[in-house]
Amino acid sequence: MCGIVGCTAQGGEVVAGLVESLKRLEYRGYDSSGIAAQTVQGIGIVRRVGKIRELEAQLQQEPLIASTAIGHTRWATHGRPTEANAHPHRCGKLVVVHNGIIENYLELRQELGASGAVFQSETDTEVVAHLVASLWQGDLAAAVRAAVGRLEGSFALALMHEDTPEVIVAARRDSPLVLGVGEGAHWLASDVAALLPWTRRVIYLEDGDVAELHPTALSVTDMAGKKQHRPVVEISWSAEMAEKGGYAHFMLKEIHEQPTTVANALLGRIAEKSGTITLDGFNIDDDTLRSLRRVSIVACGTSWHAGQVGRFLIEQDAGLPVEVDYASEAIYREPMLGKDDLLIAISQSGETADTRAALRRGREAGAHTLVISNVAGSSMARDAQSVLLTYAGPEIGVASTKAFMGQLTVLSLLALKLGAVRGKLTNGELRRRLHELKLLPHAIEAALHSSDAAKDIAAELAAARDALFIGRGVNYPIALEGALKLKEISYIHAEGYPAGEMKHGPIALIDASMPVIAIATHAATYAVIAGNVEEAKARGARIIALVSQGDDRVAKSAWRTIVLPAVPENLSPLVNIVPLQLLAYWTAVARNADVDQPRNLAKTVTVQ
Ligand code: F6R
Repeated sequence: MCGIVGCTAQGGEVVAGLVESLKRLEYRGYDSSGIAAQTVQGIGIVRRVGKIRELEAQLQQEPLIASTAIGHTRWATHGRPTEANAHPHRCGKLVVVHNGIIENYLELRQELGASGAVFQSETDTEVVAHLVASLWQGDLAAAVRAAVGRLEGSFALALMHEDTPEVIVAARRDSPLVLGVGEGAHWLASDVAALLPWTRRVIYLEDGDVAELHPTALSVTDMAGKKQHRPVVEISWSAEMAEKGGYAHFMLKEIHEQPTTVANALLGRIAEKSGTITLDGFNIDDDTLRSLRRVSIVACGTSWHAGQVGRFLIEQDAGLPVEVDYASEAIYREPMLGKDDLLIAISQSGETADTRAALRRGREAGAHTLVISNVAGSSMARDAQSVLLTYAGPEIGVASTKAFMGQLTVLSLLALKLGAVRGKLTNGELRRRLHELKLLPHAIEAALHSSDAAKDIAAELAAARDALFIGRGVNYPIALEGALKLKEISYIHAEGYPAGEMKHGPIALIDASMPVIAIATHAATYAVIAGNVEEAKARGARIIALVSQGDDRVAKSAWRTIVLPAVPENLSPLVNIVPLQLLAYWTAVARNADVDQPRNLAKTVTVQ
């Protein structure tokens, strides 16, 4: 986690711009931040504990005027969030910012300490400054190349040296790093969102790359110094797409963007009249799809919940067995995958370390690999055989909403594609299903009208200590996701359960102080879940029920209801998640919590 930025420009002043870029990376970590700049007096550093606005305020008092600078926003791993541990770290004339973890830092610290290095921080990063400084012979890129070979772990690094004041050197291994290309200026950042105000022409660095940035020149080599060609990519996202657009929080804006997310994920991919699905980026031929024996899905967090919905859809539509694993667990078991298996890695960022590791293992075991991601140039998108993009646009709120919606849409399409190719769905059925998918943005739009009801309920839910979310079938993962949304942004303890499991333990928790949020919309499981709701109600639970228009049973047992448009069951997760996101959002607002940057969380988890 953490975010790094850098800019070297021909004249001009770059520090204010870098602070803007850092704000766009704040979702990656926000316990401290800092800037190092090549001023006329040498390299000046300003660092502050807390959010980037603290750094901004300090820079008013202590301005850094420079046309070459690097910056960092931190999510602490090694060493507490203090000013001494904040980046950039310095060794003499050299400074460094780092995202990732140097696993052998203790060993290096000892070795460098024995040759006289004195450390100012508790971080793993500071060893990089000392190591590169010890190898400096007048060429920063050469010193970095010599140093990175000694580093174990993951890193995206940016370094400057006072003796080469226009140069920034960057290097990456297993942590994202993208370069921005401009007229008389070059940038670097952990995420393309930080570059959008300045340029849309970017270069994604690959693992093992070392880049040297000058205002008017840019070169990339491997760690041995061999020149590498990396293409310049035009990004279609605009800077406005990464801004709040009048909403109080990014999360609220992103929740409201979801009808468009679905429409974008379908755009150009479906031909309803002929019943065809064209998945750009999907390179697995139909014969291979027909011969598949099994699908295995790996993901973390919200993306794992999308995987659980995907399991239901693929099993039902394509008749293929699916297993869904936490990526962080999958990597510690035998992969059990081979040439007849399709491994799907789901990741909004495409950078999550565990998911990436699970994907690599699957590929090495010989499975066909597919990544469902929101970020075109991400590491996973480049690692896999096939990539399906969710086209949700930049997601800035740490709690994932619209990216989840994009994942569900893509999984729905994939399930239909597999079903059609494998002969489980007739063309007529496929056409009907595509028509239903096409109508979905309207149903999501209607679900957004539940915002006022959710706000109203949140005013009371905000006082709860715990909450239970229950669902069945394809909506069981939505109960899990509703609970995750509530706990991560409002800090209310919440659990999701398959409703049928209530009687096997959790029902003991129920009393008048326990809100139970029940997903009881139109579905094959409606009657059983209605029974579960009545059992909970009989034990005094306050039921908040999601029901479909026209419901006349569950609504009677509920303390509060949210009425949603009736949609086919397999599409209901995409509608039902909306009021749960809104409920979490308004509850967090009522509790005065930091909605977009919940404590202890980072958006992109690039460490295992
Ligand atoms: C929760 C959330 C996380 C992510 C998880 C995986 O709101 O956002 O649980 O889903 O960290 O991240 P990606 O999808 O980027 O691999």
